[in-house]
Amino acid sequence: MTAVKMDGKELAAKVREGVAREVAELGHVGLATVLVGDDEASHVYIAAKHKAATEAGIDARDVRLPADTSEGDVLALIDRLNNDSEVDGILVQLPLPSHMSETKVTYAVSPAKDVDGFHPLNAGNLYLGTPIHVPATPSGCMELLHAYGIDPSGKEAVVIGRSEIVGRPMAMLLMHANATVTVCHSRTADLAVHVRRADIVVAAVGRPGIVTADMIKPGAACLDVGLTRTEEGIRGDIDASVERVAGFLTPMPGGTGPMTIAMLLQSTLKAARYRRSLLAFPGS
Ligand code: GUN
Repeated sequence: MTAVKMDGKELAAKVREGVAREVAELGHVGLATVLVGDDEASHVYIAAKHKAATEAGIDARDVRLPADTSEGDVLALIDRLNNDSEVDGILVQLPLPSHMSETKVTYAVSPAKDVDGFHPLNAGNLYLGTPIHVPATPSGCMELLHAYGIDPSGKEAVVIGRSEIVGRPMAMLLMHANATVTVCHSRTADLAVHVRRADIVVAAVGRPGIVTADMIKPGAACLDVGLTRTEEGIRGDIDASVERVAGFLTPMPGGTGPMTIAMLLQSTLKAARYRRSLLAFPGS
C-alpha cells in the first residue's frame, strides 16, 4: 500500500484563487508584516508570504527592522499599524531578537488585526470553541483533512509537539472537530505507544524522521509540519518509510507549508471583513 499524497500545493492554489476573487470584490485589503533582525529562515518565510499576498491582490507592506531595534520602537510601530486604516492584518514574524519580549509584542497587536491568531484573546477564543483568528499552520492541516474526506469525529488523533503556534492550537481544532486528542511532547515516555493508536497523526517538533513506519497504524492520515534543513536537504518529522503504511501523507516539501501561507491570506481577508463590519467581531 502507498499512502495517498495530500497535495498541499494544489489545495493552497485553490484557496489562494478564492482569496484573490474575494479581495477583488472587497477592493482594498492590506497586510503589514514586521520582520526584526536577520533570522535566515524568517527572511525566506516573509518573502514567500509577500509573494503570495501580492499575487492575491493584497496590498502587502514589508516592514523590516535591524536586529538592534528597541522593544519600544517595535511597540510604537505596532501601535501605528493598529491605527492605520490601510492595514487590515498585522503579522510579526517570530522569532524576535532575544532582547525583546515576544509576549509583549504579541499582546500589542490589535486582536482584530492579528492574522496569526497569537494574541491571548484569539488563543482564548480558540480554546473556548469560538475561533476568531486561528494560527495558519493548524488551520491548513484541518483544510487538508477536510479536502481528503477525513472527518476527525470519533477518531484517535495524536499531535506531536505542544508549541503555541502549532501543537496546542492543532489539538484544540481536532478536539472541536470531535476527535479524541492526545498531545505528545519532549517528556512523553513512549511516543510509539500513543502514535500506534492514531487514525490522525500531526507531527510538529522539528526532529527529522522521529515518526517511523513501525509506529503507524495502517491507513492513518499523517501530516508533517516539522521542517529541518539538513546537509541532505529539507527533512520533515515523518520518515519517508511511513508512505508504505499510512493511508494519507503530506509530502515534504509541498504539504503543510503551502497551506500555511494560503490560510494566512484567508485570515487577512477575514480581518478585512472585521474592519469593515461585514463580520461582527465577537464581544465587541
Ligand atoms: N514563525 C514560525 N512560524 C510562524 C508563523 O506562522 N507566524 C509568524 N508570525 N511567525 C512564525
